[in-house]
Amino acid sequence: MGHFLVVGILVIVVAVLTYFGLDAVGLMPVQASAQSVSIDWLWNWEIIAISFLFSLIVVPMIYSLIVFRRKKGETGDGEHIEGNTPLEIGWTVVPLLIVLVFAYMGAYSLGDIRRADPDALVINVKAQQWVWTFEYPEYGIISKELHLPLNQQVVLKMQSTDVIHSFWVPEFRIKQDVVPGRVTEYRITPTLIGDYKVRCAELCGSSHYSMESPVIVDSQADYDAWITAQSAIAAEAAKTPEGQGQLLTVRNGCIGCHSVDGARMTGPTWFGLYGENVELADGSTVVADDAYLAESILNPQAKEVAGFAPTVMPPFALSETEIANIVAYLKTLK
Ligand code: CUA
Repeated sequence: MGHFLVVGILVIVVAVLTYFGLDAVGLMPVQASAQSVSIDWLWNWEIIAISFLFSLIVVPMIYSLIVFRRKKGETGDGEHIEGNTPLEIGWTVVPLLIVLVFAYMGAYSLGDIRRADPDALVINVKAQQWVWTFEYPEYGIISKELHLPLNQQVVLKMQSTDVIHSFWVPEFRIKQDVVPGRVTEYRITPTLIGDYKVRCAELCGSSHYSMESPVIVDSQADYDAWITAQSAIAAEAAKTPEGQGQLLTVRNGCIGCHSVDGARMTGPTWFGLYGENVELADGSTVVADDAYLAESILNPQAKEVAGFAPTVMPPFALSETEIANIVAYLKTLK
């Protein structure tokens, strides 16, 4: 009986130390959404269970290795034990109860984070290789940044134009796949003003690692100011061909792969591109004029630029006017 008492006390002590040790590591980032409270509550109970089970296995094992090791001169076999019915019932029923309790807690937490506010703000999200685009349908705004107002439930209606992506903001805790051919929803109520980042959490191709966009939680006043400013920019841009072209490059996600400032991304930069000689993968050169740029949008693989991964860009079925507007925009980038 003495051994059981000692091991029992050691199991509890080690479990408590393991729990506080894991807690001190700070495994989770800050809580920035109402939903994260429920998820962290569940996570905390799981860490408690994990700490206890770890201790329950490791402590008796190490205790037995040390206390019951073979003494010098001991050559006989150990005591033969033929089953133990109460113990077997115990280690079947107790884990079953624990699993059922956790199933209930998981379902409770899932119900909590899925609770829908009928007045939730709708934002459309488009995922494509390798860029996120955010549309605010009420205001006609297209943005490469996701701005969210504080303490208001938002429902993201997410669609993919190509492969499976996954919308993941660790501070919000929730992660949701974006699957081609259907609309998936992501509900969140931001509760902490700050700058975060959405990362794609599904391996989606060669530039998956760079599929990140800013997520900014604003106070209501800052959010309203941003909406007003973006609406004004969009209205102003829509008046000129180059402005419309720029909006098209955001709407179609072009800027996920092409920089406008000379920085190297997945595709060639547009900065100073118009009118320049472009070296192609086959060793020839071509002048970046209207015809070349139009061809490269409609049929990107016709003339591939040297030094970039081939066949990465999908064709974009844009109208002649839209292409002319984009080319007009590219002319301004110098
Ligand atoms: Cu999209 Cu990884």
